[in-house]
Amino acid sequence: MRKKLIAGNWKMNGLKADAKALAADIFAKATPNMPFDMLVCPPMNVLGFVAELPHSGVFVGAQDVAETIKSNGAFTGDVSAAMVKDLGATWTLVGHSERRQYHGETNAIVKQKALNAINEGLTVVICIGETLAERETGKAVEVVRAQTRECVPNEATAENCVIAYEPVWAIGTGKVPTTADVAEIHAAVRDEIAKVLGTETADKMRILYGGSVKPENAKELLNVENVDGALIGGASLKADSFFAIAEAVK
Ligand code: PGA
Repeated sequence: MRKKLIAGNWKMNGLKADAKALAADIFAKATPNMPFDMLVCPPMNVLGFVAELPHSGVFVGAQDVAETIKSNGAFTGDVSAAMVKDLGATWTLVGHSERRQYHGETNAIVKQKALNAINEGLTVVICIGETLAERETGKAVEVVRAQTRECVPNEATAENCVIAYEPVWAIGTGKVPTTADVAEIHAAVRDEIAKVLGTETADKMRILYGGSVKPENAKELLNVENVDGALIGGASLKADSFFAIAEAVK
């Protein structure tokens, strides 16, 4: 039985005061024996600060790690997986479509970042998903299969790796795929994980859905076969809506 994961991606939101208030709200609502795992990924400026707050029952993660295998050195602006771990975070996202779109991250780069995270002992959420043009030309399944194959390192296990399927056209737009489309993609992703890592690992690995998840559509999306949780952007910026989504797990 895969325990569902409710993950919040705060993106580039959170000056110190906002982040402190949001983290405090979320951590106050969390209880030790929730029937789901919960993860928050604040931006790098407040990551250490959030990770240092008592956060029992909630994991804290980064939104990205550096591509270089070095843990330090001449890489201006980069933050290594070792540094993320040093801040007290235990998870990280990699390969978010905004990284792919605005920073030219390829599947090969995403795979290297995932490996760096795993080698540092972080749990990694690898984000994949097709663009609108790819969806409209019938290439969605092919694209997410290739992304899965090319981004998941051989070192990944069901414990240190989670996949998040986020159709690019559904992120921040209020649009969501049909449950049939979500089911089709998630089954294809699991099948592709099996090819890379074997069926036993594929059966255990969590595959999240992300893209305009809201309290209103959470139950429907979280009940789709092979959907093992949600990666939430906008609705994770308020403790109430974040937990309202999590409530749909019960
Ligand atoms: P959204 O973002 O929930 O605001 O659509 C999801 C994401 O990009 O992770």
